[in-house]
Amino acid sequence: MKVVKTIQELKEFVQAAKKAGHRIGLVPTMGFLHEGHLALVQKAREENEAVIMSIFVNPLQFGPDEDFERYPRNLERDEQLAAGAGVDCLFTPDVEEMYPEPSIIAMTVTSRTDKLCGVKRPGHFDGVVTVVTKLFHLAEPDTAYFGLKDAQQFAIIDGLVKSLNFPVKLVGVDTVREEDGLAKSSRNVYLTEEERMKAPHLQQALKLGVQAAAQGEENVQAIVDLTISHLTAYAGAAIDYVELLSYPGLMPLKKAEGKMILAAAVKYSKARLIDNIIFTAG
Ligand code: PAJ
Repeated sequence: MKVVKTIQELKEFVQAAKKAGHRIGLVPTMGFLHEGHLALVQKAREENEAVIMSIFVNPLQFGPDEDFERYPRNLERDEQLAAGAGVDCLFTPDVEEMYPEPSIIAMTVTSRTDKLCGVKRPGHFDGVVTVVTKLFHLAEPDTAYFGLKDAQQFAIIDGLVKSLNFPVKLVGVDTVREEDGLAKSSRNVYLTEEERMKAPHLQQALKLGVQAAAQGEENVQAIVDLTISHLTAYAGAAIDYVELLSYPGLMPLKKAEGKMILAAAVKYSKARLIDNIIFTAG
């Protein structure tokens, strides 16, 4: 595996891969890798001759009171995991390399942001689409791989590609979970022992809501309330939001029918966790 820190070196890798007729799969990450990230690599490995992973904690997508400084980092371990998973080129730029001077262009996401995480993290998705745009230009992937755990992010990047005609195919990969159902996340290390025991209730609460919809409950608020009451009783966390929306449009629903997302975010003492289920009913 080639580890490159500069745009120049990345471009050399990309040019060589293109010249050899290799398809390029890109897996953008912020590092502190876990099996969720590696599932994206596995999918990319199956479909491409050249797999590029980026590790970059993107300051643009963190709010002033968020965890940019203390976001977990361990590049040495990440390099081993990436190599083991079959990454061909690991791009690990520093902030200076990605943002050498203040940009004179700002990207604004105008739809799909006024729900879910977009409300509590103003500017977050503007930062995400900015860095993803840069990565698409630099790595020139045929296909890019993103996790459906961040379902709103996936819906917005899907909108980015369609709105700006990026010649990139997107693949969404199902959420990888711990045995007890907790979605794997770099932020799970912030949980105390007690919080870690309660955290699987996030997924269980969502399952209850989806089950009700599958059994014919069409009332959106009833499904949301069922999820909220399970979280309140068992999760031991403050509820940030529980929402049932259309997917990928993220529009409010009159009735629980069609392709939908039931999503929730909860706050523990040092970690904010998100999870969702995308499903079809009605
Ligand atoms: P990060 O949180 O590091 O996640 C990188 C990718 O891994 C994202 O596509 C995310 O959805 C996926 N992922 C995380 N946990 C997962 C899990 N348990 N199962 C499956 N996939 C999972 O998301 C970002 O970084 C950034 O916003 C980024 C897109 C890299 C832009 O900076």
